[in-house]
Amino acid sequence: MNPNFTGQRPRTLVADFLKAQGESYQKAIFYSFIIGILSLAPTLFMLEVYDRVVNSRNALTLVMLLILVIGSYIVMELLELVRHEFLQRVALNMDRHFRSRIFDITFEANLKRIPGGSVQAFADLKTIRDFIPSGAVTAILDAPMALVFLLIVFIVSPWLGVFAMVGAIVQAWIAYQTEKKTMPVLTEANRGAIDAQNYANGTLRSPQVIESMGMVSNIHARWMGKQRKFLQLQAVASDTAGANNAYSKLIQNLQSSLLLGASCWLTLKGQMLGGGGMMIVASTLGGKVLVPLAQLVAQWRLVVNARDAYQRLEYLLSLFPDKPSSMSLPAPKGVLTVEGVVAGAPNSPIPILKGVSFAVLPGECVMVIGPSAAGKTTLARLVMGLWPASSGKVRLDGADVFTWNKEELGPYLGYLPQTVELFDGTLAENVARFGQLDIQEVKRVIQEVGLQEMVQALPEGLNTRIGEEGAILSGGQRQRVALARAIYARPKLIILDEPNSNLDEAGEQALLQTLANLKTQGASVLVITHRTSILPQADKLLMLRDGQVAMFGARDEVLAALQKAQADAQNAQLGRQSGVAPASANTNAQAPRPTADAPTPTKTVSTTTSTVPIRTTTVPAGPKTDLKSGQES
Ligand SMILES: Nc1ncnc2c1ncn2[C@@H]1O[C@H](COP(=O)(O)OP(=O)(O)OP(=O)(O)O)[C@@H](O)[C@H]1O
Ligand SMILES: [Mg+2]
Repeated sequence: MNPNFTGQRPRTLVADFLKAQGESYQKAIFYSFIIGILSLAPTLFMLEVYDRVVNSRNALTLVMLLILVIGSYIVMELLELVRHEFLQRVALNMDRHFRSRIFDITFEANLKRIPGGSVQAFADLKTIRDFIPSGAVTAILDAPMALVFLLIVFIVSPWLGVFAMVGAIVQAWIAYQTEKKTMPVLTEANRGAIDAQNYANGTLRSPQVIESMGMVSNIHARWMGKQRKFLQLQAVASDTAGANNAYSKLIQNLQSSLLLGASCWLTLKGQMLGGGGMMIVASTLGGKVLVPLAQLVAQWRLVVNARDAYQRLEYLLSLFPDKPSSMSLPAPKGVLTVEGVVAGAPNSPIPILKGVSFAVLPGECVMVIGPSAAGKTTLARLVMGLWPASSGKVRLDGADVFTWNKEELGPYLGYLPQTVELFDGTLAENVARFGQLDIQEVKRVIQEVGLQEMVQALPEGLNTRIGEEGAILSGGQRQRVALARAIYARPKLIILDEPNSNLDEAGEQALLQTLANLKTQGASVLVITHRTSILPQADKLLMLRDGQVAMFGARDEVLAALQKAQADAQNAQLGRQSGVAPASANTNAQAPRPTADAPTPTKTVSTTTSTVPIRTTTVPAGPKTDLKSGQES
């Protein structure tokens, strides 16, 4: 939970819940009231037996009273059951009401790397669901009736009423102390438990790395450290709650006996009428006054856990207010325009892309090159509408990609991320994006990426389950399956982030053919690559460096500019070396290397879509400079 959260809150979980479940909730309160009244029956029975039956010695009256009290017990139990049913229904309805929304929110939080985007949200929903029909809530519902009992004791005798009230105040004070002392510790312990759970989940995803490099004991020790921390806190909270629970029970037990003694004393003094029967009534009701409070103290841990869970959920819900339904747009043709985009990671003020502009037309393939951490993958995320731009726009056919309804736009987009993500399911389901299965189209794309032999070798062909993250496939196969998924159903805009990083020569040939086919189909293709082998299919090259466009233009012109920059840099370095290096002494001395800050002559290359200055930046000399421009290979 972010305590500094000050944003505008949307409708909260409670508001939603009460609005949707108000009727069941009111019924539960009503039944609690009836149960409270019926719970007076045994006390009245006692009074009548002592008073009427003992004095009149009438067996028939006793039988009638017995039937009445047994009847009231049965009705009371039935009502308890019904009340539990109502609360259970409220809990289940709440679960149903929020589950899918929480799934969407968790997914979005995960996508945007916002804390809370884990399965914890589902555990929190379960905690609240279990809390609603719990003894803690019924104790709260029974509390108003306890006040009625107190009032009756006051009517029997104001002195006894004051006595019972003092007991109630002491009990309330114990409840308050329990809250004060256990709440911060339990909240901290809950945070620790979540942290330990997340750590275990994260590490269990990479068992091979941990096992192969003997990291098990280190990881284990770290996890144990986290476990120890929250278990210690839980023990502290549990000790405090246990002690308070014992005090609370003591007070409750004492209350009845002390009230009985006090009422007997008052009877002896002639200050209380009604004899033995009234004495028992007073002591029983006085004890009942404390029951809900004692029950609450005993279940306080449930209350704290539910409140923590509720606050976390509410915070998560507040981060993702209901989206206004986005306008339906006609199917895109695939004209991609990136206009002065400045963007960073979500919730980070640091820009990664700093004013990037270019365009890709249908039937055109633009390849993005540049050194590591230049912002290439970030650009892909922006173009896919996954991350928002802080200024500038990414448009598809003129409409902002980020705000476009993803469910509608998704089929027109194809994305192969740098880290391939496949899901548990069959190969065909993965390729068809888990949507309606067009088996002919699946076969076509499988053939296009050159996977038909692999499919034939699989035990159940296209219907083979590939396991979580495509566990049964090799790295190259996974990448090709993800490529097949990206081009499934002929999307209009395709972004491939290093599609050949795991491919062999045959795979690269298939990729080249795929790119050619995509262009022929009229798709707009943006490919991020570090390798030169697929450059023949590029129409244009975009070189990113430090989040900025260092070069953009027709492929051959950019390559020529790159080569020229490289040659200039080599010449400059050779010149410096021959001028500076001493003829004999100090052979270890290094000639100063050119830097990226060196003056950069610019030249403009006109392209079909835009006119972008090409900066022939100085490239550090080396045996060979590759597409990362400045990285020696
Ligand atoms: N989720 C994130 N949160 C914060 N910073 C990020 C995030 N993802 C990337 N960055 C930062 O953005 C910069 C660009 O990263 P990006 O992944 O776009 O580089 P890249 O050009 O794709 O590199 P590579 O060729 O190694 O894949 C890096 O400095 C990186 O640290
Ligand atoms: Mg990348």
